[in-house]
Parts: sequence; C-alpha cells; structure tokens
Amino acid sequence: MTIPAPQTMGQQFGRRSWAEPWKIKMVEPLRVITREDRARALAAAGYNTFLLPSDDVYIDLLTDSGTNAMSDRQWAGMMLGDEAYAGSRNFYHLEEAVQTTYGYQYLVPTHQGRGAEHLLSQAVIKQGDVIPGNMYFTTTRLHQELAGGSFVDVIIDEAHDPTSLHPFKGNVDLGKVEAVIQRVGADKVPYVSLAGTVNMAGGQPVSMQNVRELRALTDRYGVKIYLDATRMVENAFFIQEREPGYADKSIAAILREFCDYTDGAWISAKKDSLVNIGGWLAVRDFDLFEELRNLVVIYEGLHTYGGLAGRDMEAMAIGIAESVQDEHVRARIGQVRYLGELLTDWGIPIVQPVGGHAIFLDARRIYPHLPQDEFPSQTLAAELYLDSGIRSMERGIVSAGRDPKTGDHYRPKLELTRLTIPRRVYTQAHMDVVAESVKAVYDARETTRGLRMVYEPKYLRFFQARFERL
Ligand code: F0G
Repeated sequence: MTIPAPQTMGQQFGRRSWAEPWKIKMVEPLRVITREDRARALAAAGYNTFLLPSDDVYIDLLTDSGTNAMSDRQWAGMMLGDEAYAGSRNFYHLEEAVQTTYGYQYLVPTHQGRGAEHLLSQAVIKQGDVIPGNMYFTTTRLHQELAGGSFVDVIIDEAHDPTSLHPFKGNVDLGKVEAVIQRVGADKVPYVSLAGTVNMAGGQPVSMQNVRELRALTDRYGVKIYLDATRMVENAFFIQEREPGYADKSIAAILREFCDYTDGAWISAKKDSLVNIGGWLAVRDFDLFEELRNLVVIYEGLHTYGGLAGRDMEAMAIGIAESVQDEHVRARIGQVRYLGELLTDWGIPIVQPVGGHAIFLDARRIYPHLPQDEFPSQTLAAELYLDSGIRSMERGIVSAGRDPKTGDHYRPKLELTRLTIPRRVYTQAHMDVVAESVKAVYDARETTRGLRMVYEPKYLRFFQARFERL
C-alpha cells in the first residue's frame, strides 16, 4: 500500500473514530507566564528546553516519556503495592503481563529503559563488536559504545528523507545488514538492534514482513535480534492499518506475532505502558537470563524489583494490559495525527507520514538560512517556548552528539524539533493552541537568528548543553 497525499490522510484513515475511550476524573491546573518572564526563563535555561523548570511551561511536549496519565485502575493498583524486598507479588503480576503480551519467558525489571540497555550491552557486547540497528537512539547507542561496541545505521534510506511517504520508514535495509555481517564476520555482531517504532526517524514503523525477513537473514548467520519495544504497541497499530492481511487482527495479536520473531526485548515502560517510571528486559535464553540476573543486582536492585517499588510494577502490569486495547491506540495516534494534519494544511514542513508519538518539525526546511552548526532545531524549540510557553525537544545535531573516535559532531540528515504528545493528558483544544503557536513561529522564520553552544557536557549533551543567541 502507498501512503495517500498528506492532505487526505484524515479522510483515508478515518478521523471520525478516534474520540478518547475515557473521560476525565481529576485535573491538574496549567499556568501561563508572560512573554517577558518566558524570555528571562529561556535565557536562564541557556536556550535548552531541558533546563526549564516545568512551572514555567504551559503545554509540555518535551517528551511522551513518563508523562502519561494513569487510569483509575492503575492508581488503585498503586495501593496494592507489595513492598517486600524479595518476591513482591507485583513482580509476578508484571512477569505474567510480559509473558502474555510480549511472549518472552524470562523477565528482568529495571528502573527505566536505559537501565535495561546498560544490562543488555554489558552482557552481550565485547570490545570491537559491531551492532547494526534501524537508526540510533541516544541512550541505546551510548550504552553500546560504552560496552566497547560501535553502532552502524542499517535503516532504509527513505527514513532519512522527511518527505518520503514510505509506509514503513522504520524498516531495516536487509542488504545493509548482510553487508555489515560479511564485512566484520558474524562473531563480531552480537545482535541486530531493532526498534519499533523508530523514535529518531519520526516515530516510523517497521513492517511484519521486514522483521520476518530479518529473522530469516540473521538465522542464516546465527545472529540474534533484540527489540527495543518501547513504542512497539504503536508500531502494531501501523501494521494493522497499512500491511495487507492485518486489518482484522487485534493490536495485541500483531504485537505478539512481531515479538515472536525476536530473541528478546527491552522497554522503557514510561511510553507505551502508561506509567511514570519503569522498564524491563526480557529474553528467551536461560543462560543469558542468568547473566542479566547477575548484573541487575549490581546496578539496579534485586532481580524481583530492579530499582522499582512494588506499586510501580503493579501500575506497569495494569498499564501493559490497557496499552494494547485497540480503541486506546487508535485515539492516541488519532490525536497525534490531528495535530499533524493541522500543520500540514497550513503548509508547515513536518516529517511525513506522521508517526506514532510525536510531530517532528523539519527545522532544515523552516530555517534554510541557518547552517547545522547554528543549531536550527534547538533554535526552533527556543522560539516555540518564547511564543507560547510550549516546550518541545531538539532532535538534530545536538542530540546526535560526537563520534567518540574522531571527536567531530555526528551530522544527522534529519534536523528536527519534536512535539511529543503524552498519552491521555492533553485535549484537542490544546492541540489547536500548539498548532497556532507553531504557525506564528513559522511566519517569523526569516528574521530568526541561530544559537551557539557555550557549554557542552561529555555524554548525552542535549540534556544539559547551554547556548546563547547569535
Ligand atoms: N529507547 C527508546 C526508543 C526511547 O525513546 C527511550 C527514551 C529509551 C529507549 C530510553 O528509555 O528514558 O526510560 O531510559 N526516550 C525518551 C524520549 C527519553 O523522550 O524519547 P528511558
């Protein structure tokens, strides 16, 4: 199937059907500060939205991570926390949820996604190894590098083109994977690092056919596949919508079939699983599980809590079950798409097709006069905050960091500013306000000046770097 022209996506994919399958029981007031106060707050934050106090933010689209609203059932589950040091009943509930929904036998809970990335990287990567993956993610690649490996991008070329309407822009290019394996030898490739959906590409999905073919290819060489399943529920939605043969299958069934092609997975439960903290790593191989259980007690906590409270594991177990309900996913992605359609109708360049968790503004096309060294995406995030108090996130050269071997900036083709939508938190009216602010900033684009970096941390610099206006 091909993706229809962006203007007709709403009609094609049924904009009518996505009203939220819940109503609001409790509210949290929002605060808007004046433009003068925002200008002061922004300068004090070194033009980095990560350094703003959230009290100075109006609509917070920094991330969909840990910012979700829990359901009444999840809150009730918090009261059932069994805070035993060992063998908490909530661990067994979580284990059962992961086994049923994702299909992996052995579970290691972690405090969040990067805790799981750390354990997996330390357990399976040796010095000099090469890890092919469908586009880097910041923390994932850093843990692979810190364990002695190097990451090679094997995503299809279309993923680097924000205008390509390929329906599965997260797909792995099998030719690129095979070339890596043949160049370095299968014994130097501990696993393929597969993510669904692909965050840095714009929340773009991987098709079932692609993972099936990847499995066949890696089996020929004896290479494992580990899945970053952080937003795999959203990936399953796109398979249901776009891949022949899946329209009548449930999100839960599609998710399970996809996971069945892989050897294990890790997750930041702060996304799909509708909680504020948590993560896990789960595998099929008992020997690897033994190794991971050895490591978790050093870095996270006992193997039945992994840095979490019992109540957190309970909320996660309930959140996993809620996350795969078809009407929930349809409403969640429907809201993201609603914002995307407004911006598309107004001619604002965004990554197309709209992905699962966010709208990615194309800062290269919005600020063609700003070279990448003047941080166009960082600039756009700052301008949005100044205009309306909306907080977004840089996903361009700052996030990409530096090549540890050469010390140069990694220079990603995609220079994007992410408007990330938390699950079950904001309304359609909030989306209208966001779209109008983006339009105002877009209209002022020609007179906008860039930034220079005045402080650069060593690791994951985007979190704490500081800038000044040029
Ligand atoms: N993998 C993916 C695809 C992610 O998006 C993230 C986090 C992680 C792993 C790490 O998980 O934060 O729980 O340690 N992404 C957040 C974001 C931070 O804003 O996209 P974590």
